[in-house]
Amino acid sequence: MMLEAAATNNHIKIAHFSDPHIIYLRHAWHSLRNSKQLLGFMNWVMRRRRKHNRNIIKKAVRLVMERECDIVVVTGDICQLALPYDYAAFARMVKPLTDANIPVIILQGNHDHYSGREDSYTAYRTIRDHLSLGLDNNTGIITYNDTEFISLDAAVITPSFKCYGVLDPEEITRLEETLAQTSGENKLRLAYGHFPLLNSKGEELEEFMAMQNAPMAMDLIANNKISAYLCGHIHKPFVTNLPGDVTQYCSGTITGGGVLRFFTGEGNKLTETELVSCF
Ligand SMILES: [Fe+2]
Repeated sequence: MMLEAAATNNHIKIAHFSDPHIIYLRHAWHSLRNSKQLLGFMNWVMRRRRKHNRNIIKKAVRLVMERECDIVVVTGDICQLALPYDYAAFARMVKPLTDANIPVIILQGNHDHYSGREDSYTAYRTIRDHLSLGLDNNTGIITYNDTEFISLDAAVITPSFKCYGVLDPEEITRLEETLAQTSGENKLRLAYGHFPLLNSKGEELEEFMAMQNAPMAMDLIANNKISAYLCGHIHKPFVTNLPGDVTQYCSGTITGGGVLRFFTGEGNKLTETELVSCF
């Protein structure tokens, strides 16, 4: 009986999407506080608003419910301009999931630092903690049954026309020390972050948009029995192999032609079971 219970615990259904880029223009114009937000606003008005449709998230939520997923991972750029009411709007969009007791794990992308203001970070942290339904967000490793979700949050404030990330080397050391405390043999370990560590050709990303210490992140993943890395940032979905027989899944931008990925975790193995374009 105990073995059966353990096996059941070690089976998990996961959904992943990225880069919702939520923005409400009628509020945004009055809320711009810096040149980064102004450029992000202009980018939206001139280009992205023709490509993105936030109603796609309703469809994604419905599909996650239909597939009876256990947990959802959203890998950053929750909002286009990092405005507090846009975070609240995203939380309302995914409320059917949390109402159904499905945790939604989120982390920041480069756009989530566009404001640089404490009220934005407070709004982000508020919905992050609310959506994760009590899972501990503060150690960088979220444990859900026998699955560990390792957050590689490298998003930082960047100058205009740059969108790179920096993963704090002290954070990498801290994660390594925590992961070393357990063997990881019977657990599924997944890393998730905003920035792809390699592009669709298996090459380094261009410097202005790369995670600057991606090699350290890849070492962390390869050396700690982590099965896969989920990410976004590049707005077209792709899959690439990382060192150590690890698969990187980039899901693009859900509201702008990206995909919703479904996975099953069994033991320490992750299998992609379905890829859905919500457009
Ligand atoms: Fe993005």
